[in-house]
Amino acid sequence: MNQEDIFKKIISHCKEYGFIFPSSEIYDGLSAVYDYGQYGVELKNNLRQYWWKAMVQLHENIVGIDAAIFMHPTTWKASGHIDAFSDPLIDNKDSKKRYRADVLIEEHMAKIEEKINKEVEKAKLKFGDAFDEAQFRATNARVLENAQKLKLIEDRFALALNENNLDEVKQIIIDCEIVCPVSGSKNWTDVRQFNLMFSTQLGAVAEESGTIYLRPETAQGIFVNYLNVQKTGRMKIPFGIAQTGKAFRNEIVARQFIFRMREFEQMEMQFFVKPGTEMQWYEYWKNTRMEWHQKLGFPKAKYRFHDHIKLAHYANAASDIEFEFPFGFKELEGIHSRTDFDLKSHEKYSGKKLQFFDPEENQNYVPYVVETSVGLDRLFLAVIAQSYLEETLEDGSIRTVLKIPAFVAPIKLAILPLMKKDGLPEVARKIFADLSQTFMCQYDEKDAIGKRYRRQDAIGTPFCITIDHQSLQDQTVTIRHRDSMAQERVSITDLENLLLKGLKN
Ligand code: GAP
Repeated sequence: MNQEDIFKKIISHCKEYGFIFPSSEIYDGLSAVYDYGQYGVELKNNLRQYWWKAMVQLHENIVGIDAAIFMHPTTWKASGHIDAFSDPLIDNKDSKKRYRADVLIEEHMAKIEEKINKEVEKAKLKFGDAFDEAQFRATNARVLENAQKLKLIEDRFALALNENNLDEVKQIIIDCEIVCPVSGSKNWTDVRQFNLMFSTQLGAVAEESGTIYLRPETAQGIFVNYLNVQKTGRMKIPFGIAQTGKAFRNEIVARQFIFRMREFEQMEMQFFVKPGTEMQWYEYWKNTRMEWHQKLGFPKAKYRFHDHIKLAHYANAASDIEFEFPFGFKELEGIHSRTDFDLKSHEKYSGKKLQFFDPEENQNYVPYVVETSVGLDRLFLAVIAQSYLEETLEDGSIRTVLKIPAFVAPIKLAILPLMKKDGLPEVARKIFADLSQTFMCQYDEKDAIGKRYRRQDAIGTPFCITIDHQSLQDQTVTIRHRDSMAQERVSITDLENLLLKGLKN
């Protein structure tokens, strides 16, 4: 099965098993907006909690806040979002479809790259062990021609973006003969910048109303509260402020399921440091965040850094932690050294000082900021995609299982009386009442036991216990492990400790 088919299966599994539904589906859904179902919300809460614990609970110098989604509109002037948070758009006049111009060009370049790689693969098969790839790439006429074509487009494109030259971006699309995937025509409009922020009106009557925005990132809620938290929390530099919450972007090319959404959740932390020490903290947070992702237990090869060469105007270093999704390596988290850009800009627009008095230096300064920013929905997608497995069992049957890391699994324990009689449900319900104080449990007495195990496998429950007639005699149950499917007999009184051990990360 190719990756595209696997991805389609994951999407339908998420819907079939109550993880993710299209938003307002009875009205045919809303593009790039999704609802989390009964298991999705548990997994999402657990991932958020995993982040919060690592960032806030385990760091004595990081505290959390929960800022409002609506903010004073000047916030977005100061942050640069009103003037510069936009994508270059182009419409096809025949299909009336709208595209991101930069994405059209990038996809065209990816196709040329694919042609080169196909050429190399073909030669590899032909020459076998004797194949020298470097030499082939340096000498093969077709590869060289395509590589040169690619380089030319790359250089023109980078220059056009740097100079914000939208006419040249359109010219590249025309020169590359890029066609609309829907109409097949080259009948394009001019390229325009399109701001990604959603706006709405504040107040019920016209005189009160003013345009406000749904926040496109949670970070600004932290910056505007820098002084409140620093003073009331008596925070000393270096210190951090963390926040999780919704962000909104009117994404033009919204696809790949929950990878790029119009309403999504971010988990961000701004770490305020002394100017001049930011590079050391940037390296610290790059490594700390990578370790945090890898502690989920997925193969290390699934993660990589992508250091930015072209930096945003406010950054002096930036790197993405990329994850290998079914559609390739893509950004999961960004780590940015944002200098003092945001605080200084808020000082300028608000007229308030946003500084720190450093007793060691005996001076005031505007702190520098290192930011870590991860999308909760992208993390969710990474976990689900990596956990989804179709296993062929010894008897030839297929079991679909989500091998979600046990400590973040939506349901930790399924409690299954073997039969609906002879007092077995009563014992099972007593266990449910006791253990659900500590763990998210599920009680299920419907259908044959094999079917019930499969249902739990499909939602990623790491442990199932079965209560049978022997349980009535000796107060023991069988515990079944999701990944190995191994079963063992244990005492009911040992269950809580066993689970606590099995759910540690
Ligand atoms: N405050 C910095 C900031 O917002 P970003 O790279 O634009 O930086 C940070 O976003 C993270 O938010 C990304 O790494 C990604 O995980 C997530 N994210 C951004 N746009 C998203 C979208 N449209 N849908 C889902 N997640 C998104």
